[in-house]
Amino acid sequence: MLNLNSRLTRVAISIAKSLFTRDYTSICRAGYTPSTRNYCLQPSFQQNLLTNLYKGAMFEKHNFLSTTASNNAAESGSQEKETISVTFVDKDGEEHLIKVPIGMSMLEAAHENDIELEGACEGSLACSTCHVIVMDVEYYNKLEDPTDEENDMLDLAFGLSETSRLGCQVIAKPELDGVRLALPAATRNFAVDGYVPKPH
Ligand code: FES
Repeated sequence: MLNLNSRLTRVAISIAKSLFTRDYTSICRAGYTPSTRNYCLQPSFQQNLLTNLYKGAMFEKHNFLSTTASNNAAESGSQEKETISVTFVDKDGEEHLIKVPIGMSMLEAAHENDIELEGACEGSLACSTCHVIVMDVEYYNKLEDPTDEENDMLDLAFGLSETSRLGCQVIAKPELDGVRLALPAATRNFAVDGYVPKPH
């Protein structure tokens, strides 16, 4: 009887041990594989496991946030760079240095900064009142070639020069950073006489 009791006790202990061990070995298999199964059963291991999982989750969260923050900083940095410096030199020789967003025409930029550049037809290539003279040939050569329509209008412009362009057709792009544009002493407007549009 004593022998039977003792055997039953050993069997019960063995079953309980087996069940308990299975739970934690499955956790161990998920990337945390200590050298012995007994190590998994130790309370200190369980505590360490949970602590490490928590730390890992916090690291990932922090890493995600800092990556997002640095991406935002990079994006805002690139936005800041998406303008170029343009100097308008008016007929009195006064210089106006402005920042022009990439993609904006020099006519729009002038209007936004209260620079006296007419633009009677508002960029529809029907006048020559937005005539500007690119002061450096180096920059003039970086511009797209003028279309036939622009050349036709330029032929009517007052004070035409080798580096004349229509301001509404000169679009800001990174290569034009630092360009200087002179405003002619007068403009001639055959197409839209007397009409001066309000700045945008
Ligand atoms: Fe008329 Fe530029 S605004 S052609």
